[in-house]
Amino acid sequence: MKLLSAPHPFSFILFGASGNLAKLKIYPALYVLALKKRFPENYAIIGYSRTEMDKAAFRKLVEESVHAQMPEVNKKVLDDFLSHVHYVSGQYDKAADFAKLAKTISSLEKGWKNAVRVAYLSIPPMVFSQVVENLSASGVHDKSVPFRCIVEKPVGHDLKSFEDIRMQLEKCFTEEEIYLLDHYLGKEAVRNVYYLRFANPILERLFKNSLIHHVEVAGLESYGLEGRSGYFEHTGMLRDMFQSHLLMMTSLLTMLIKESESTIRESRLNALKQFYLPPATNLDEVILQAQYTKGKVHGETVAGYREEEEIPETSRTNTFAALKLLSRESRWQGVPFYLRSGKRLGKKETRISIQFQEPHVVGEGSTPNRLDIILQGEAGMRVHLQTKVGGTTPSFRPLILEDPLVCTGDCLPEHGLLLLEAIHGKQNWFLTFDEVRTAWRLIDPLQSHLEQESTPLYFYPAGGNGPEEAVGWAAKDGVTWVV
Ligand SMILES: NC(=O)c1ccc[n+]([C@@H]2O[C@H](COP(=O)([O-])OP(=O)(O)OC[C@H]3O[C@@H](n4cnc5c(N)ncnc54)[C@H](OP(=O)(O)O)[C@@H]3O)[C@@H](O)[C@H]2O)c1
Repeated sequence: MKLLSAPHPFSFILFGASGNLAKLKIYPALYVLALKKRFPENYAIIGYSRTEMDKAAFRKLVEESVHAQMPEVNKKVLDDFLSHVHYVSGQYDKAADFAKLAKTISSLEKGWKNAVRVAYLSIPPMVFSQVVENLSASGVHDKSVPFRCIVEKPVGHDLKSFEDIRMQLEKCFTEEEIYLLDHYLGKEAVRNVYYLRFANPILERLFKNSLIHHVEVAGLESYGLEGRSGYFEHTGMLRDMFQSHLLMMTSLLTMLIKESESTIRESRLNALKQFYLPPATNLDEVILQAQYTKGKVHGETVAGYREEEEIPETSRTNTFAALKLLSRESRWQGVPFYLRSGKRLGKKETRISIQFQEPHVVGEGSTPNRLDIILQGEAGMRVHLQTKVGGTTPSFRPLILEDPLVCTGDCLPEHGLLLLEAIHGKQNWFLTFDEVRTAWRLIDPLQSHLEQESTPLYFYPAGGNGPEEAVGWAAKDGVTWVV
């Protein structure tokens, strides 16, 4: 098997180098790539942020982030990796600071051949435009050097701010230079939703409206704000989880399978475009929101959302939402999709559950067939069948076929895999502007509805399965959440 690696020298310029995502995901992922020997001899990791630090302090920050996230660290590999790490402190809107950055990059790249430059925007979306403009003005984005600009999701806060960012990106970069990143699309398990279908024609035969009762797409989290109160209070669960991650998973499930991977973005977009809100007299029939209160998660008492640091006592930000969608795609017509996601729930699990129609013979203990594809948590696939128990009247017991879905083979952390693909210029697993726009078009009216004072906000204790009201809301359609 050919392993994916960076074939040429590259500079990786990370904006927001002092931030949460950088420490939590990006530095550990870069270390893993170094450990797995995916980097060439010549490469440079250049952190950029406003925080004043010298190179030694920044290397320490990177080192500590790696230690904090990795169960085991190879000191020799880490030391060598750190020798490639550099830092420039600067404002995001100051041309002079970008000139300093450009100078640092040029001196690091001296003597390199066929170098690629990757700029990664790990900063809040409101500073994207300033950075993009300065990248071009300073010559860091230099047309003579292959360039990639990786933009973290969410791209914008709503449709309007997305279009502003898009225009700015398109003004400065070509389409081939723009990489819109949803890290879920870097997860092997999420990509596998597509490949499972492709590799198992029997599944494809089952995926049709005459057999399926409904689909549940769940992104359940047991953790809370993780030090990201400011971001979350401004964003909420609908924007954070549904706008990209859950809609992408649902699109991978319903997209038309094509022979060639090169059309994957197009097929994903087409699937996404087929989703619409069910006709309803009131949007409360289509979406429900809630917020966690004090409770116990894994035996530990945790504060309610409004008691968290920096969160106003009167906050109406949702930490849980459930949404119902329909698809126009012919084989899925009439099948409701229930998307559900919440923080501070009793367990962490990312799952697609396909529930089939009621069985023909119903007896005591009988339940509809179900296929669970569990992507995170105890990842696996589970087929729920049933078998008759002995006796003259038909009664049944569950017959469950299951196998873990763990990545074997060349398993890379999501940000590492996406970075290598970006270096190679592979855009299949990055979003297109059309996909992001389509998602915002779906989410924007729902978000506006949730923000109205008259829209109910329910409450649920941390550590449970979410609000009681969500159970009743789904039950009206004859749907029971998978727990
Ligand atoms: N953290 C995650 O788990 C996660 C997951 C998915 C996507 N994302 C996305 O990734 C990006 C970075 O996330 P993050 O959690 O790392 O964010 P963050 O920690 O809040 O911000 C990253 C860095 O940006 C700078 N910054 C923060 N607020 C700023 C402001 N108002 N104006 C200018 N600079 C500011 C700070 O660096 P300096 O002050 O040193 O410049 C900070 O260290 C965001 O777009 C986020 O939505 C994050």
